[in-house]
Parts: sequence; C-alpha cells; structure tokens
Amino acid sequence: MMALYIDINRLLLRKVKDLRCLTQIRNRVKEKWAATRPKHPPTRVALQHFDATYTAQLGQLWPSVRIALLSERKYGALINNFSQDAGFADLEAQGCRDFISFRDGEAGSSFEHIDANSQQPFPLHLSQNIRCFVFPKGDTTRFKPAKPDQFGLLCYYLMDAASVLPCLALDVQEGHTVLDLCAAPGGKTLALLQTHMIGYLCINDSSVSRTLRLKKVLQSYVPKQFLADDRLRITSFDGTKWGEIESNTFDRVLVDVPCTTDRHSLMEDDNNIFSKSRTVQAACPGGEILYSTCTLSLNQNLNVVEQGIYLAEKNHDIRLQVVSLQHLTKMFRNTFHFAPDLHLGEMVIPHLTANFGPIYLCKLRRLN
Ligand SMILES: C[S@@+](CC[C@H](N)C(=O)[O-])C[C@H]1O[C@@H](n2cnc3c(N)ncnc32)[C@H](O)[C@@H]1O
Repeated sequence: MMALYIDINRLLLRKVKDLRCLTQIRNRVKEKWAATRPKHPPTRVALQHFDATYTAQLGQLWPSVRIALLSERKYGALINNFSQDAGFADLEAQGCRDFISFRDGEAGSSFEHIDANSQQPFPLHLSQNIRCFVFPKGDTTRFKPAKPDQFGLLCYYLMDAASVLPCLALDVQEGHTVLDLCAAPGGKTLALLQTHMIGYLCINDSSVSRTLRLKKVLQSYVPKQFLADDRLRITSFDGTKWGEIESNTFDRVLVDVPCTTDRHSLMEDDNNIFSKSRTVQAACPGGEILYSTCTLSLNQNLNVVEQGIYLAEKNHDIRLQVVSLQHLTKMFRNTFHFAPDLHLGEMVIPHLTANFGPIYLCKLRRLN
C-alpha cells in the first residue's frame, strides 16, 4: 500500500513538473509570438476585406473563388520564340497544350484543335505567334523550370495563363506603335514581343527597381541585338503623366495597372493609374487601350474604367468607345472561368479546376 502511495506521489510530482515545463514553454512561445507576430497579419485583414466585399459582389460564386484563391495557382508556359529550343515536344509529352491554338473539347480534359478554315469570323487577329501551354483542367502538374538554349535564352516564361488574354485582346497588328505603360516585371511585354509584329515598342514602368528587374527578364529571353534596336525603348516615367510626355502617338496602349493583386494582397484600393485618365491621351485617335488588373475588385475595375471614360471626355474632350471582348471569352471559355454578366469588360475568376486569374480586362477605342 505504501509502495502504491509513493508511486502515485511520484507520478503526481512528475505531472506537476511536466505542467510547469509546459507552462514555461507556452509562456516562452507566447512571448516570442507577442514580439514577432503582428496582431492582425495583412493576409488575414485582406481575407476579411475580401469576404466582406466579394460576398456582396460575387454572391454565390465567392466561396468557390475564395477556396481557389487560397489554393495553389496554376501557371502557363509562354513560349519564347526567340529561343532556339522552344521545348514543345517536351511540353506536349507532359500532356499540356497551347491554349491559344487548341481548344478544350466538350468532354472532360481532352483538347481539340481549332481548324483555321472552320473558325468563326473573329474580329481580333489573334497573333499566331503567341503560344502559351497549359495543363488540362483539373490537372495541377507543375512546369519544370525553363531550360536555356545554346545562347542562354530561356525556352519559356511561366506566368498566369490568363495574363496572356490582355495581350491577345490588344490585337497588335503589323507595324503598330505600342506602349506598355506598367510593364514590370515583363510577362506581358514578353508576350507582346512574341507577336513579331510591333513596329515600335515603348516599355515603361515608373519603378526604377522594377524596371531593372524587367531588363533582367528581357535579357534572359530576348537576343541582345533585338534589345539594342531603335524600335524598342525602355523608360521609367510616371504613367499618369504620359499625356504630357507624348500624346496622340500609339496605336495600342496596354495599361496593366498596379492593384490589390488579390492573390498576394496587402495593398490599398486607391492606387490606380487609369483614374487619372491622362493615359488615354497616349493613344492616337482610332487607337486602342487595354486596361487590365489582377483583382476582382469592382472599384478597381469597372468603376475605374467608367471614371476614366467620364474624365477623358470631361477634361480632355476625348471620346472613348468600349470594345466588346465577348468573342474572346467564348473562344477560351473551356480554359478559363469567366465572370458572368459584367456590363463592362471581362474577368477571369479563379476556380479549383482552372486556377488562373483573377484577371480583369476592358478594351477602349479612342474615337477622336
Ligand atoms: C500589375 S504590375 C504590371 C505587371 C506587368 N504588366 C507584367 O505583365 O509583368 C503594375 C506595375 O505598375 C507599375 N506602376 C505603378 N504606378 C505606376 C505609374 N504611375 N506609372 C507607371 N507604372 C506604374 C508598378 O511598378 C508595377 O510594376
């Protein structure tokens, strides 16, 4: 009996010791947390903000978009035509296809080629030279890192495949003068360069450090002699002042503005270049402007475009016409999920089976 009593006592003592130890550890951890962890991590604040805003905006769609946003995103491999070894065979052997020249079949994840002869009349001249490989719907295989060719140029650039849509929608034609106003780190610039149609390209980003990053990206994908060509210019101007710098110049202007970048969102809602409306002055009369963001936010998308149209007329007497992009969404509806019923522009919304986007795009034509 005595032995049992001693054993229980020992056990209790050990428990108390363990508990003390635990408390100490917990306290230590608590102290560390208090010192290093912010009370409200920006990601949680962003999620709360999105829950409030996007429930109202997207309604029943929000839970599926939310889970996709919180899951691993999907990439596309933009083929680098400047590379000697584009690596198609390798990509095809892995089961991916160029989503621009191939269209998903109705049944599941197989791909079906669009016959050039049977294609419906298409008001855009989709550049045959832009190619972006994606894995089929529901397939979350990751791409291998791109390999360099004998000159050190990488064979593909990994980016959100939906980011190629603004470049396709821009509809660059032979000899066009093009301004890429917010270009860094350069994914869309690279896509535009793949067209091999641009007569003159101005690549701009107001951030000097990001412009340096963009130059490095270009050096990894574009031959030196091409980068040194007079038909290409890299600048670091504030795009909101472009109308004062150079107006009535460009056939095409890509305005891929800074936004809350929903997937990594930490920023404020009010930093938007297009609301200044001077950007539209950069386009020549008849020229086209493609506004794009990577946010679902109504404020940063439709509202900005509406305000841009209003201010362009009010302040600069410039009339802008919205160009429909519905044919583009029809063409690629089996690769991307598009938001239904937007009255202005189109939007790719993330979905677990095709986790691209968000990408909003709206095209405007300058009438006078
Ligand atoms: C969404 S990112 C552009 C992404 C780029 N188009 C791509 O495809 O890789 C927005 C860019 O706008 C730039 N930016 C912000 N304010 C600007 C301004 N006032 N004028 C020009 N660029 C600006 C930022 O430095 C940032 O690199």
